[in-house]
Amino acid sequence: MTKKRVLTGYRPTGRLTLGHWFGNLMNMRELQEQFEAYYFVADWHALTSDWQDTHAIRQYTEEMVLDWVAAGIDPAKSTIYRQSDVPEVAELTMYLSMVTPMPWLERVPSYKEQREQISEKDLGNVGFFLYPLLQAADITIVRGDVVPVGEDQLPHLELTREIVRRFNNQYGELLPEPASLIAREGARVPGTDGRKMSKSYGNAIYLSESEDETAAKVMGMVTDPARKLKTDPGNPDICPLQQIHKLIGDGSETAEWDRCCRVAECGCVAHKRKLVEDLNAYLRDFRARRAELAGEPGYAWEVLADGAAKVRPAVEELMADVRRAMHVDAEG
Ligand code: TRP
Repeated sequence: MTKKRVLTGYRPTGRLTLGHWFGNLMNMRELQEQFEAYYFVADWHALTSDWQDTHAIRQYTEEMVLDWVAAGIDPAKSTIYRQSDVPEVAELTMYLSMVTPMPWLERVPSYKEQREQISEKDLGNVGFFLYPLLQAADITIVRGDVVPVGEDQLPHLELTREIVRRFNNQYGELLPEPASLIAREGARVPGTDGRKMSKSYGNAIYLSESEDETAAKVMGMVTDPARKLKTDPGNPDICPLQQIHKLIGDGSETAEWDRCCRVAECGCVAHKRKLVEDLNAYLRDFRARRAELAGEPGYAWEVLADGAAKVRPAVEELMADVRRAMHVDAEG
């Protein structure tokens, strides 16, 4: 029996954080064992919103590949490629645009929200409007069966399914309808200020930062804001320190911190020191591996070149079918 295909992509936005680690990377690492996995860097998607400032895209692409591989996304198991290395994705976007009514794109929630909320970038371009259509092409070009995504991406997946149905209605049953896979619960990682960890909030702990950088950030973390003095009892349930500690441990350690915090027996500074130690220990293997890979010149680009070659047969097969069905191939 052939394995089902899982596909997911991420815009290259730079070094990955502890939020990505628990939110995506662990999931991607597990999925590559059960599925034929396609993981790609969505550099064209990055262009749709950042077309006025593209200088960092190449470097961010490289950083992301290094983070992926160091985190255990194995290039021998998964096909790791760059969207722009598969130009047929643009061709398929063109074909899918024929069966997509404009209102379907206009009503995508992320489109409306981001146009309203993001004022520092010009999102009035056609490229940004086509974002979800490009995503539909990413998924269908490898006949992706399953797409692991966060909740915010569900409307994009629903749109992909609608486009696929309309395409299949018109040209014959060629494309599979992809299913979404929501990452397991509890993957929300708080940042150093207690809000969701995010690069744009400036509250992120980067996987590849140094132990000293991590130490400085953890020592400056927010804890239960109501606990002013060490002699005040605290509430560990709302403490970001404790939440991160729970994610990296087996629970035996954090049960004691939970107890002693509630009765004001231990202080936040002591807990921070312990988290620095445990978090740095937790990331030590990743960081060593990451540094090793970064020390091999051109490593990430080799991974991407291999991935581009590996994805090619699936792409060519699908595109031949699509061109034939739409009568744009050389001979019928
Ligand atoms: N839109 C996704 C994001 O912003 C990135 C993405 C592009 C993607 N193409 C995809 C995700 C295809 C899953 C499948 O994170």
